[in-house]
Amino acid sequence: MNQPTASAIKHLNVPEFVKHAKLIEWVSEIAALTQPDQVYWCDGSQEEYDRLCQQMVDAGTMKRLNPAKRKNSFWACSDPSDVARVEDRTFICWAKKEDAGPTNNWIDPIEMRQTMDGLMSGAMRGRTMYVVPYSMGPIGSPIAHIGVEVTDSSFVVVNMRIMTRMGKDVYTYLGQDGEFVPCVHSVGKPLEPGEKDVLWPCNSTKYIVHYPETREIWSFGSGYGGNALLGKKCFALRIASIMGRDQGWLAEHMLILGVTSPEGKKYHVAAAFPSACGKTNFAMLIPPAGFESWKVTTIGDDIAWIKPRIDPKTGKTRLFAINPEAGLFGVAPGTNTLTNPNCMASLDSDVIFTNVGLTDDGDVWWEGMTKEPPAHLTDWQGNSWTPADGLAGNKAAHPNARFTVAATNNPAVDPEWDNPEGVAIDAFIFGGRRSTTVPLVTEARDWVEGVYMAATMGSETTAAATGKVGVVRRDPFAMIPFAGYNMSEYFQHWLDMGKKLSLSGAELPKIFCVNWFRKDENDRFVWPGYGENMRVLAWMLGRVGGSSAATENVFGLSPNYSDINWNGTDFSEKQFDKVISVSKEAWIEELKLHEELFEQLAHGLPPVLRETKAKLEKLLG
Ligand code: OXD
Ligand code: MN
Repeated sequence: MNQPTASAIKHLNVPEFVKHAKLIEWVSEIAALTQPDQVYWCDGSQEEYDRLCQQMVDAGTMKRLNPAKRKNSFWACSDPSDVARVEDRTFICWAKKEDAGPTNNWIDPIEMRQTMDGLMSGAMRGRTMYVVPYSMGPIGSPIAHIGVEVTDSSFVVVNMRIMTRMGKDVYTYLGQDGEFVPCVHSVGKPLEPGEKDVLWPCNSTKYIVHYPETREIWSFGSGYGGNALLGKKCFALRIASIMGRDQGWLAEHMLILGVTSPEGKKYHVAAAFPSACGKTNFAMLIPPAGFESWKVTTIGDDIAWIKPRIDPKTGKTRLFAINPEAGLFGVAPGTNTLTNPNCMASLDSDVIFTNVGLTDDGDVWWEGMTKEPPAHLTDWQGNSWTPADGLAGNKAAHPNARFTVAATNNPAVDPEWDNPEGVAIDAFIFGGRRSTTVPLVTEARDWVEGVYMAATMGSETTAAATGKVGVVRRDPFAMIPFAGYNMSEYFQHWLDMGKKLSLSGAELPKIFCVNWFRKDENDRFVWPGYGENMRVLAWMLGRVGGSSAATENVFGLSPNYSDINWNGTDFSEKQFDKVISVSKEAWIEELKLHEELFEQLAHGLPPVLRETKAKLEKLLG
C-alpha cells in the first residue's frame, strides 16, 4: 500500500521545546501511517488537561460531576464491548516463540508488523494524534524510564496525565537523544469527512502488541485502561520485566508500603497479589484497635520497579523500589468507607470515573459503596436504574468500573512516595486467595524457598471475575498476564538476582507468603482481614527486625498464637489454629498441583525449584 511520505504530513507542529531528532522522525513516520488530521504535542499543563476535559464534556464523552459533591471530577462510560484488559488479544512478539513462553500469546513479529501496519494505516483519519511524553517514576530518578505514547484518544491523554509524570519536562529530560519506549495507540475508529464521532470510539478488532527486541508497544482497538494507557501494564510490567532481566533489576506487580513502628522505625514492604485479593485495601491499610501507634503509608498500589544499589546508611547493597506510576487506576465496585476509608477519601475530588453509576444529584455510585442504593440513578450504560434493576441482576456499575486519581489524593500517601532514590525494601510478601491449605503467614527459610513460594502461588477464582467460584489458578508472582518473557526464565532471573546479591554481601529482603482467605467448615472466612492484617504485618516486620519469634514447620517459619500481638481483639487461639494449620493430606494434593505447573513451565524451569519441591515432599513424610 502506498503511504504518504512523512513530508506529506503538513501539520507535524513540532514545538520549539522538542529537540529530539529520533522522536520527531518516529512521530512523523507514525503520522504518515495513521494519517491524523493534525498532530498535537502535549505539554502536560493543567490548562491542557482542563481544555481536553472540557472538549470531552462538550462532545458528551464525559459528564462533569456536581462540584458540590466531587470537585473537578468526571463521569465517563465506555462502549459495552470495551470494558477491561483483553488478555487473549495481548501478544508478546519475540522473534522466537519459546522466548515468550507458554503463558503468553505469541505471533511472529514480522507477521504481526504486517497486521499492525494494515490496521494502523489511516486509523487516525479525522482525528488528532496526541504525542504524550511520560516518565515512569520521578523524572531523572536512576530507577525511572521514559516512554512516549502517540494516541488518537484525548481520554487517554487526560488519564495518562494522572497516571504518569507527563509533560514538557520529559522532553527537556530526553534532550536530543535520550532513550524512550515508543508506544503507538489508536482506538481504531477513523472518521470520514463530516462523519459524527461516537461517544466511545473503539474497534471490535483489538491487538495489544509488544515487540521485546525493539522495546516497542502497539495497541489497536480499545480506549480502556491497561489496553490504552500504555505506561501501565504494557510498559511498566511487560516491557520493563524484559529490561529488568537484561539490566539486573526487577519490574514487579507489587504494591509498596511504608510501615512505621511505635519506636519510630520505618520499614518498607513490597507485596504481590493477584486480582480480587484485596491489593488496594492492603495498599491503604488502616491499623486496627490496639495498633494506634503504628503508621502505614502508601508508596504504590500496583507496580514496583526495584533496583539494587548501595544504601548510604549502611554501606551495604540493598534493593530500592519506586512506584513507577503517579496515580491510582482502581476498581470502584466494593470500595466503601468501612473497608477502605483512605481510598474513599482519595476520591473526593479530581477524579475520572469510568463505568460507574451516576446519581440524580450528579454524584457517583457503585455496588458495595453504601448498604442502601440510591432510589434512582443512571447506570454505566446510560439507562435509568432503580434498586429493582439491581435485584434483577443489572448492575449500576460495571464490575470492572474504575477511578483514575493522582497518588497524592490518598491521605495516607507516604512522604517518600516521590523520592527518586526509592525506598529500601525489607520484605517481599506474596499472597493468593485460598480457602484451604495455605496458612495465614509463612516465612521462607531462604531466598530460593521464597522464589518457590512465589512461583507456585495460586488463587481461587471469584464469581465477579470468571463466573466460576473456587477453581485454583496458578499465578506465579501475580505476573501471569504481565511477564514479558518465558515465566521459567523469569523465575531464573529472581534466583540469579538473589544469588548475585547475596554473594556480594547485599542485605536481601525476607520473603513471606500470606493467605487472608481461609474458610471454616461453614464456608465462612475465619480471618477478619482488612486492618487486622496489620497484626500479621507487624509479626513479619518483627522477623525482619529480629523481635518476633517463629516456629519452623514443613514449609518454613510461622508464628504461634503467642507470637502475634492480639491487643484490641478477641480473635481466639482456636480460630488462629484454623488459619495457621497445615494439613498433610491437603499439601500432598497441593504439591501434585505444583508439579502440574512445573510440567507446563518445563522449558527452562530452574532445576532448583524441583529440588525444593522434593525437599518439601521429604519433610512432609
Ligand atoms: C490491574 C490488574 O488492573 O492487575 O491492576 O488487573
Ligand atoms: Mn494490577
